[in-house]
Amino acid sequence: MEILKTFDDFEQSALAAIRAANTSELLEAARIEYMGQKNGRIRELQKLVGQATPDLKPQVGKRFNEVRTAVSDALDQQQLAVQAQVRKAAMDFDVTLPGELPRLGKLHPITQTIAQFRELMGRFGFMVTEGPELEDEHHNFQALNIPEDHPARDPLDNFYVACATVAAGTPVLLRSQTSTVQIRTMEKTKPPVRIVSLGRVYRPDAIDATHSCMFHQMEGLMVDRHVTMAQLKTVLSLFARSFLGPDVEIRFRPSFFPFTEPSVEVDMKWGNSWMEIGGAGMVDPNVFAAVGYDPSEVSGFAFGLGIERFCMKHYGVDDIRRFYENDVRFLSQF
Ligand code: DAH
Repeated sequence: MEILKTFDDFEQSALAAIRAANTSELLEAARIEYMGQKNGRIRELQKLVGQATPDLKPQVGKRFNEVRTAVSDALDQQQLAVQAQVRKAAMDFDVTLPGELPRLGKLHPITQTIAQFRELMGRFGFMVTEGPELEDEHHNFQALNIPEDHPARDPLDNFYVACATVAAGTPVLLRSQTSTVQIRTMEKTKPPVRIVSLGRVYRPDAIDATHSCMFHQMEGLMVDRHVTMAQLKTVLSLFARSFLGPDVEIRFRPSFFPFTEPSVEVDMKWGNSWMEIGGAGMVDPNVFAAVGYDPSEVSGFAFGLGIERFCMKHYGVDDIRRFYENDVRFLSQF
């Protein structure tokens, strides 16, 4: 009889769904789908009973009751099975097992190096200061005696930031050197000054094993009466030796920077080779003039060192890109 087929189908599909429901959430979903008071599919069967002709009604009614009982029994049974499983899982859990140890994070090698530099320079009496990474041309160039037509100001050699420029109404760039902080410090402090500033700088360089478009520098500035180049050499030698060991040597090569006169490039000898670590020199009188210091009253030295260079040498890292790839296998060595 056609109508009884509908009951069989319902029963089969409901029992299959119930057996497959292995969590109480799935089981509840099956209960609602098949036996739900409002929209359960059982309602359709109920309608069929109502529509059956009087001669068929007893048979159809009997089948309806059978199916309904079978399905609700199956629901009850499965409910017990699911609960038993949950209890068993809880008992199988051995609370005396050692837990999984979470992996501890650690500071990035560059961050560790920065912390050590700060600490070392602090012991030499240098105060740590900070400056913004978004800079105006006054602090990044003009006050550092880098005139408008200087090649270092080429827009292609700097990261100018269009939206910040619009907001500020004046050109804004990501600072290309931490020397900006010399200016910011002198603008708001009277001499004597003895500061270091460590942070990121940005240059659109082609990226390779020793160049990155973002890296870190440590800027140093000491201004007082009678500050000399000999003191600069002493400070840098002491610094390098304290960080890398007593065998490190420092050498100066004549060079040019707009903000120092005379200027030098600084090399460090460690083992058998010389490595360039940065620039330095005696603060140019024009820079003093730009911040309102009297060059006949004070003198000063300044230096800017590449932090990655030290970090690579210190830890034996041969490619600067390793620092920025966020590869935990690399970073967890430090
Ligand atoms: N700002 C220079 C650079 O990024 C490095 C430098 C040279 C800093 C000489 C100084 C300095 O303070 O005196 O290439």
